[in-house]
Amino acid sequence: MRISNWRLAITAILGLWCLGTTAVSAAAPTLPENAAEIHLGVASCAGSTCHGAVVPWQGSNVLQNEHVTWKEKDAHSRAYKVLLDPRGVRIARNLGLADAASAPECLSCHSDNVAADKRGKQFQLSDGVGCEACHGGSVRWLGMHASGVSSHAQNVENGLYPTEDPQARAAMCLTCHVGDSTHVINHRIMGAGHPRLRFELDTFTWAQPAHFRIDDDYRKRKTVVDGMKTWAIGQVMALQLTVDGIADAKRGRDGAFPELVWFDCQACHHVVPPSGDDNWSNDLRWHKRTGTGLGPGVPRLNDANFIMLRVALGRIDQGLANTLREQTLALHSASRQGPDALAKAAETLKGTTTRAITAINGYGFGKADVAALIQALVAEGRSGELIDFGAAEQTTMALSALLAASKDATWLNEAQFVAMNTALSQCYDAVQADRNFSSETFLTALNGFAAAVPQF
Ligand code: HEC
Ligand code: HEC
Ligand code: HEC
Ligand code: HEC
Repeated sequence: MRISNWRLAITAILGLWCLGTTAVSAAAPTLPENAAEIHLGVASCAGSTCHGAVVPWQGSNVLQNEHVTWKEKDAHSRAYKVLLDPRGVRIARNLGLADAASAPECLSCHSDNVAADKRGKQFQLSDGVGCEACHGGSVRWLGMHASGVSSHAQNVENGLYPTEDPQARAAMCLTCHVGDSTHVINHRIMGAGHPRLRFELDTFTWAQPAHFRIDDDYRKRKTVVDGMKTWAIGQVMALQLTVDGIADAKRGRDGAFPELVWFDCQACHHVVPPSGDDNWSNDLRWHKRTGTGLGPGVPRLNDANFIMLRVALGRIDQGLANTLREQTLALHSASRQGPDALAKAAETLKGTTTRAITAINGYGFGKADVAALIQALVAEGRSGELIDFGAAEQTTMALSALLAASKDATWLNEAQFVAMNTALSQCYDAVQADRNFSSETFLTALNGFAAAVPQF
């Protein structure tokens, strides 16, 4: 998907979120894949009176056409099939795998790859990332929830995964969208032709596209968390998995070198300025960044999530934001000293991410935070911290999340929303493709967005 499409997801959700400041449960539930529940397969959810309706049902709690949305518009229903497409075949061949569609290296993220004894009769690996990959094995809740006699809490008790909780949702989505010790992504797979991974919890939730609607009935059944908190939780959870990956003795290194998947791809992969070309400066990207402390000609870690979290924490706990900044600098510096030093510095960051989760969960984002967070992002941009493609992309998605949250909370009138959304389009255009990325163009777009922010 082209990233510019994601803003359409925002327009589709106007007025759907309400602002909730309810605290989120602290303990992360067991992930759908690791829980004991049997996965019955997509077919068991797709009945026409269940989630297989062709159009949304009137008068029902849920839309009931979730299956059609998933099958026709959601990339997850294609996740297995792409392994058999030319691109999947080529990646497998380059890696020396006989067949991507039977390789655990690929199935871990491209299907609901639960253990054989947890697969029901109608379960098919070829369903790709099916309903139960996200909602949990349904063997104990399917019957009760289909007859409508059980509450949401009872369903969760019976193994339904609480996808409405941003922390639980992030923990689940990110296993595949950042990777972990059982969903392993590395530069070898990238080098074989795999696309780069990028993720922002709020933007991606709506871009999936969403097969749910947040209305009064939804609010009665479930706790609704605003887009700002969802964004912040998504950032800290992504960071946690990243530092886990860097610190992991197996995944954090490639022989004598640190594993490159954690580095900024475009720091190495971009056009080299040719000699005898008057436009050489277009291709020379390096600028000094105080946030890395690194000089030119050095690969740098992808610190987009670090910057975003630092910005979020700036509103919540400045001391913690400062600690994060210092530890990020130490991490960049350690990246020059080899995998052991890097792993140690990453280990240090783990405690900070845990404290950050608690801090974010305990904070109620409000109106004043929107303008302040936008200002903080713009300040990062003006000080040169957002010159990398990945950071510009994360910033754009952060602006999306903030804009959507403001609209949902009815802090903007229609004209204000349109002005900001138009300005946001310029940011999306600037991060359309890394091959034409220019940090100057992005910064102009970012300043344009800041100019469109009204006085709330
Ligand atoms: C850590 C999880 C993970 C693993 C492991 C993984 N993938 Fe992926 N793959 C993804 C995600 C997430 C995307 C979508 C990236 C995006 O667009 O943001 C993707 C995208 C792709 C695409 C592009 C799909 C499209 O619609 O264009 C192909 C092809 C692919 N993967 C093949 C493979 C193969 C082959 C393997 C095994 C060698 C593999 N993947 C291993 C997570 C993974
Ligand atoms: C990639 C993860 C993912 C997949 C795959 C997925 N869902 Fe969802 N689903 C979500 C998220 C996230 C939500 C929104 C949070 C919530 O309400 O729990 C949601 C919400 C729902 C809701 C709740 C609507 C409401 O009003 O409470 C239903 C019903 C649902 N999904 C059914 C399905 C069905 C059926 C499938 C398979 C055809 C499916 N989902 C596949 C992630 C997923
Ligand atoms: C089991 C692994 C897995 C889980 C869990 C998962 N995804 Fe994905 N997701 C994938 C794969 C693989 C793809 C790429 C599929 C393809 O293009 O063929 C993908 C694609 C996507 C895309 C399309 C990206 C693009 O560039 O087009 C979005 C959006 C997305 N996922 C959002 C989510 C969200 C939100 C969650 C959690 C609610 C989630 N995913 C959970 C594996 C997963
Ligand atoms: C430290 C520098 C460095 C970083 C950072 C880096 N790469 Fe690479 N990459 C390389 C080198 C060196 C090769 C091997 C070049 C070759 O095979 O021609 C390579 C090869 C590749 C290839 C195969 C190129 C081809 O033409 O076939 C892809 C695709 C790729 N990397 C993607 C990525 C992605 C995605 C990231 C970020 C997650 C990344 N790289 C980060 C240095 C880097």
